[in-house]
Amino acid sequence: MNNVIAWRNVTSPLFKARTKNLLAVVCGICIPLVAVGCGQTPAASFRLNLVESSKQRLTSSQEQQVATILTALFGTPDEPLAPPEIGLDNAKLKLAAGPVRSDIVGRKNGLYREHCSHCHGVTGDGMGPTAAFLNPYPRDYRPGVFKFKSTERADKPTHDDLVMVLRNGLAGSSMPSFALLSDAKIEALAEYVKYLSIRGEVELGLMRAYFELDDEDQGVLPQSREFLFEEIIDPVSEMWAVADEAIIDVPDMPSGLDMVASIAKGKELFYGNKANCVKCHGVSGLGDGQANDYDDWNKVVFQAHKTVEGAAEQAEKASTWEMSTEERDEYRVELAWLDRFETVLDGNALRPRTIRPRNLRQGVYRGGMRPLDLYYRIHAGINGAPMPAAKGTVPPEEIWDIVNYIRSLPYDFNGTLGADRPMVARDRM
Ligand code: HEC
Ligand code: HEC
Repeated sequence: MNNVIAWRNVTSPLFKARTKNLLAVVCGICIPLVAVGCGQTPAASFRLNLVESSKQRLTSSQEQQVATILTALFGTPDEPLAPPEIGLDNAKLKLAAGPVRSDIVGRKNGLYREHCSHCHGVTGDGMGPTAAFLNPYPRDYRPGVFKFKSTERADKPTHDDLVMVLRNGLAGSSMPSFALLSDAKIEALAEYVKYLSIRGEVELGLMRAYFELDDEDQGVLPQSREFLFEEIIDPVSEMWAVADEAIIDVPDMPSGLDMVASIAKGKELFYGNKANCVKCHGVSGLGDGQANDYDDWNKVVFQAHKTVEGAAEQAEKASTWEMSTEERDEYRVELAWLDRFETVLDGNALRPRTIRPRNLRQGVYRGGMRPLDLYYRIHAGINGAPMPAAKGTVPPEEIWDIVNYIRSLPYDFNGTLGADRPMVARDRM
């Protein structure tokens, strides 16, 4: 069958809303008779990416279409169902998903809801109830961008990278270590992160695809499997499938290396024009260089606020212009969009926060403290963050020199701090 919606038996949110109304009526009759039932919490649902849909100016029926396609393809938080083509293990997803449940043998599933969703949100949008209190904010998996991994900058993390993040946590952030969970549970959670991320990126793809529609499509996306898979889903799932091939090729650290000379060379590179680490990490290495930039997730929201402000200014000016009826109608549509976008941003995005370059004198690294981890970070930079890749500007053996210098910094008590910056100043950072 060619139509994905028919191909999977879906309950659309509209249908659900109707069922709810019906339920309300039935309950209204039942409750006075039998004071049981109807007291259950509603099933968890995925939240639509309203920031993106508002940005793309989708109509509510287009939003509805996206929601229906997503449910057909990916199921619900309680009943996740990944299309076989994307290569996820549905048994693992089942273990990670759903409400927290236990039986006589102990807890069986609901792992994500138990351990992750209060930070990362049921949808994986990084907006669980705890998120607003944290800095940095928990990761929003939906853009499919991950920071701490062994692959080239633009590539997805490998499965093992995700497992490592879960085992070790991200030191210096509120992302905890889940080392006490069994291997099977960690595996299931890593798979579930991939599922949420692929689902989120497909959602973005669908929302952006409306922009490319022809007039004859009349604002409705094609629902053929061919369109959905070839145009939207495959490009995302293929990136995950080839992550293992994108692992950074790391040359061995030169044997018989003179460590003192290597550290000195690394220091020169750190302050030099080529690597220019000093620009952000500061003359002191305390992370007090350029600190007014945002990571990608915050930048999207920051720029959306700017768009709204700019459009509001423009609208204010336009209000005094003479306009034809047609122009006046367009102007009203614009104002209505502006109003909605502003409300959506207030209710669906966390306040943007600038990102701080790492204080390199503490020896605390999110992505791991092995020399290899630092090599990965410096070679590829940090995807989604302003930290650039040294690949291409600094030859591989010199990256090792920078690694050695970075590793010496926490012990460099006579370094560049000078008498005017006593050590206590450093401890306060
Ligand atoms: C107390 C809050 C909290 C909890 C609970 C939590 N995380 Fe996180 N997580 C974070 C924060 C904060 C970050 C982002 C850190 C950063 O950007 O430096 C993060 C980042 C991540 C990342 C992204 C790593 C990368 O390379 O970009 C993954 C994957 C992740 N968490 C998975 C999980 C999973 C799975 C669980 C549950 C088993 C979980 N987290 C539980 C706060 C949390
Ligand atoms: C444009 C600014 C910028 C430049 C240039 C820059 N960094 Fe960074 N760096 C950052 C930011 C911001 C972070 C924090 C990223 C995050 O937490 O996601 C960071 C993080 C780091 C980390 C911590 C990684 C971890 O696992 O926690 C190291 C190490 C690092 N940078 C080293 C370097 C080195 C070495 C150079 C020069 C080759 C460099 N940086 C150049 C902005 C920069």
